[in-house]
Amino acid sequence: MVSGGHDARYIPPGAAHALDSAQATPHETDEWSLHGARIVVRAGALADAATLVRECAPGCRPIVIADSNVAPLHAAPIAAALNADLLVFPAGEASKTREQWSALTDELLARQLGRDTVVVAVGGGVCGDLAGFVAATYLRGVPVVQVPTSLVAMIDAAIGGKTGVDTRHGKNLVGAFHQPRLVLVDPLALRSLPAAHRRAGMAEAIKHGAIADESYFHWIAAHGAALLSPSLAPSLAERLVRSSVAVKVGVVAGDEREGGRRRILNFGHTIGHAIEHLSGYTLLHGEAIAIGMVAEARLGELAEVTLPGLAEDVAELCAAFGLPVRIAPEFSADAILALARGDKKSREGAAEYALPLRLAEMNEGNGRFSLPMDDALVRAALDATR
Ligand SMILES: NC(=O)c1ccc[n+]([C@@H]2O[C@H](COP(=O)([O-])OP(=O)(O)OC[C@H]3O[C@@H](n4cnc5c(N)ncnc54)[C@H](O)[C@@H]3O)[C@@H](O)[C@H]2O)c1
Ligand SMILES: [Zn+2]
Repeated sequence: MVSGGHDARYIPPGAAHALDSAQATPHETDEWSLHGARIVVRAGALADAATLVRECAPGCRPIVIADSNVAPLHAAPIAAALNADLLVFPAGEASKTREQWSALTDELLARQLGRDTVVVAVGGGVCGDLAGFVAATYLRGVPVVQVPTSLVAMIDAAIGGKTGVDTRHGKNLVGAFHQPRLVLVDPLALRSLPAAHRRAGMAEAIKHGAIADESYFHWIAAHGAALLSPSLAPSLAERLVRSSVAVKVGVVAGDEREGGRRRILNFGHTIGHAIEHLSGYTLLHGEAIAIGMVAEARLGELAEVTLPGLAEDVAELCAAFGLPVRIAPEFSADAILALARGDKKSREGAAEYALPLRLAEMNEGNGRFSLPMDDALVRAALDATR
């Protein structure tokens, strides 16, 4: 662990076997193709950014966009290699607004950039969503290259084509689907990512293992401390990101606009989003999702959908990374239920939950992939998570 006194080497039963058999799984792939996007995951890949950007958008004029933290660390060298301008916005979720979208598009217009522009978004999910939405809308759409540098962006935000901004009515309410030409991931960029963001990203990695890849789940458990180390080894960094990318690509491939199987990625997110909101966004998204996964796995167990024991395994693994796994007393069941009902994943006012059957296998009943649940059961699951 980078901070705190937790022992991150929690190894659940069966892990040793999983480690042995983990050699031939999808993490050995370093490239994927998804809805027209080429996805490359290679340690050191940032050094090839200029070549790969030119290759995917031949003849296009690049413009690089990054936040104020990532600009000097990772974006400036890419802009220099591309001989491109670098536009910088203040780091943080507070920049994911229509105002910032407007300021950036004005910068593009002032430079008289045409339809032969390619936007290169270098940074975390905020940059990817914001710059992606700039690209989606500028002159009715120009190509975008995503160069994710946070764990959340590498394994989640940069893959799947969702872009957008927040409004005072809620997060991500104005946006567009806009598939990148290229997603260029250098897992070694994680070395400079602050520990809290590394941990929060691990919640989504744990989710990927929990919903679709048992050996990955055990591998994460066995490598906890090493995965949080500032000197993250290239082989571990690649395996981490590739395993998660393989899960996300596999799920999104058959369901570009979230009509079906993509819903399994929402495991932990119905209750997690409610808790994130109730915390006034003082909890990082991944922290709220860790609590949400534990509560929803308990809900699955109570509803006899989920094999008993999974909630405890997920809780132990999340806790090993210093992630919270209990619902604070100030977040009442009434408030969580009300927010869950208002969640955009709900149909006709009933909250829906993506529930596991067991480790790495999700409920896919009737092609619905998520289930409405009785309030009484949800309350019991919330109680059991306090
Ligand atoms: N489009 C999608 O499908 C999708 C999916 C998940 C999340 N998201 C969005 O992603 C956002 C969260 O992403 P995030 O957690 O990456 O937030 P973020 O972009 O704010 O990045 C977190 C922090 O880490 C810094 N940072 C990023 N990479 C760094 C690096 N390599 N070295 C040093 N500092 C670095 C950033 O400057 C920022 O301070 C939210 O807005 C969320 O809505 C979108
Ligand atoms: Zn999430």
